[in-house]
Amino acid sequence: MRSILITGCNRGLGLGLVQHLLQLPNPPEKIFATCRDPSKAERLRELAEKSKNIYIIKADLTNLNEYDSLVYVIKEHVGDDGLNVLFNNAGMATKFTRIGLVKAEHLTECFFVNTVVPIMLVKAFLPLLKKAADKKNTGMGVDRAAIINMTSIIGSIAENTMGGFYPYRCSKTALNAATKSISIDLQNDGILVACMHPGWVKTDMGGANAPLDIDTSCSDMVKTLMNLSEKDNGCFLQHDGTTLPW
Ligand SMILES: NC(=O)c1ccc[n+]([C@@H]2O[C@H](COP(=O)([O-])OP(=O)(O)OC[C@H]3O[C@@H](n4cnc5c(N)ncnc54)[C@H](OP(=O)(O)O)[C@@H]3O)[C@@H](O)[C@H]2O)c1
Repeated sequence: MRSILITGCNRGLGLGLVQHLLQLPNPPEKIFATCRDPSKAERLRELAEKSKNIYIIKADLTNLNEYDSLVYVIKEHVGDDGLNVLFNNAGMATKFTRIGLVKAEHLTECFFVNTVVPIMLVKAFLPLLKKAADKKNTGMGVDRAAIINMTSIIGSIAENTMGGFYPYRCSKTALNAATKSISIDLQNDGILVACMHPGWVKTDMGGANAPLDIDTSCSDMVKTLMNLSEKDNGCFLQHDGTTLPW
């Protein structure tokens, strides 16, 4: 993998993914790490000061009008090689998740950030992903072209035993459905598409009671990412590479 773009890298799992990618024996030459406000992304800036492979990209992903210039900036860096991997990591959850308290604006906000944004980013970056896929005629994987959508087991209908979590759950279930469709639509282009559950992880979103730490989850996810192949296309993967039921 020569290049990867990861959204939401100022904290949590996005930052962890950047750290673990840098620790690979052959790290990607270009890691495009987006965040809304680089001036507040101290840890990401510290990493970028030590590594020429990191490019911090300021992006407010909810502003779809910014996507053309975002793609233009990445295109200037990758040129004819295209972009190998788009990792849609940024996401949000809301409070008030039970049926008696849920509000329409919670549902629409989560749906916009967790579902609409990843789909529209795929659409925007498709030409650069196709360019990378065309460089290699066979096989599937991150050394060719791949799209990974960070989902959650909470989006699994089969695994739903608790109810509730309407905004977050529905937005991730919809992201899973989109992932499957994109995997079918792009199969002939040689672009691998999968969604990944990071585990329940101690981040601002996961909270202090989560059993996994960021390092364990991200170390697993990077290993899984590097080993992706045809058999993973259109799959709902867990951080350790095992599959989850839809
Ligand atoms: N932690 C878990 O247990 C867990 C479990 C399953 C799935 N996930 C998924 O993993 C991904 C990362 O979660 P995390 O645990 O690392 O959460 P986190 O610590 O809360 O970080 C969320 C990241 O997403 C960014 N983000 C949120 N809303 C955004 C928006 N509107 N525009 C641009 N960026 C936005 C945040 O940027 P700002 O700092 O600017 O807000 C931040 O970088 C999410 O998709 C989440 O659903 C997490």
